Amino acid sequence: MTVINTISELRECLAQHRKEGHSIGLVPTMGALHEGHASLVRRSVKENDVTVVSIFLNPTQFNDPKDLERYPRTLDADCRILEQCGADIAFAPTVKEIYPEPDTRQFSYPPTDTVMEGAMRPGHFNGVCQIVSKLFSYVEPDRGYFGEKDYQQIAVIRRMADDLGFRLQIVPCPVVRQSDGLALSSRNALLSPEERKTAANIYRILNESRSLGLSVQQTHDWVVKEINAIPGLEVQYFSIVDGDSLADVTSWDETASIVGCITVFCGTTPIRLIDHIRYK
Ligand code: PAF
Repeated sequence: MTVINTISELRECLAQHRKEGHSIGLVPTMGALHEGHASLVRRSVKENDVTVVSIFLNPTQFNDPKDLERYPRTLDADCRILEQCGADIAFAPTVKEIYPEPDTRQFSYPPTDTVMEGAMRPGHFNGVCQIVSKLFSYVEPDRGYFGEKDYQQIAVIRRMADDLGFRLQIVPCPVVRQSDGLALSSRNALLSPEERKTAANIYRILNESRSLGLSVQQTHDWVVKEINAIPGLEVQYFSIVDGDSLADVTSWDETASIVGCITVFCGTTPIRLIDHIRYK
């Protein structure tokens, strides 16, 4: 695997591959890689001739400086994981390389980017669109791989890619979970072993909520009540939405695809965890 730090070197290397007719898969990451990322990389390796994994802790998508400060940074271990998964290129640029000047572009895709995470973290999706659009234009991938754990992020990136005319295929990949159901996330590294156990209740409760036979509103209220009843967990929001538009739904018959998206504060720090469940 080649580690590349500059855009010009990346472009040069990929131009050669394109000349040879190689297909290119891109897996954007912020590092602190875990099995969830590894599953995306392995899938890209299987489906493309060349896999590029970007490792870039993108400052413009953090609206809370403390969150950025405590985000785990593990470049050497990340590169070892990528080698094992068969990635061809790790693109690990500096902040100056990506943002020599502040990026003033504004992306706006309401309601997809204004509800849920968009409402709780103003500017977050704008930062995601800034970096992902840059990566798409440097790499010009045939396919881009994104974890469904960040369900809303994929919906926003799809709209941005359509809007800017990127011709790649966005490939959503299933959430990878611990055996107790906790969705793998780089933020889990910030939880104590006890908090990790507590956090596993989030998915257990979401999963149970699928078989209650309650209305949408009752299901919503039940999930919030059950999670909040567990010491160390506090729901920030739980929204039951159309799986494509992310607009709120009020009845199970309203649309063909329905997803419940949740954000929960866990532990004393506290760490913000997100997850979702598909109802239909
Ligand atoms: O999902 C992430 O890790 C980030 O939001 C992404 C897509 C790599 C952009 O920085």
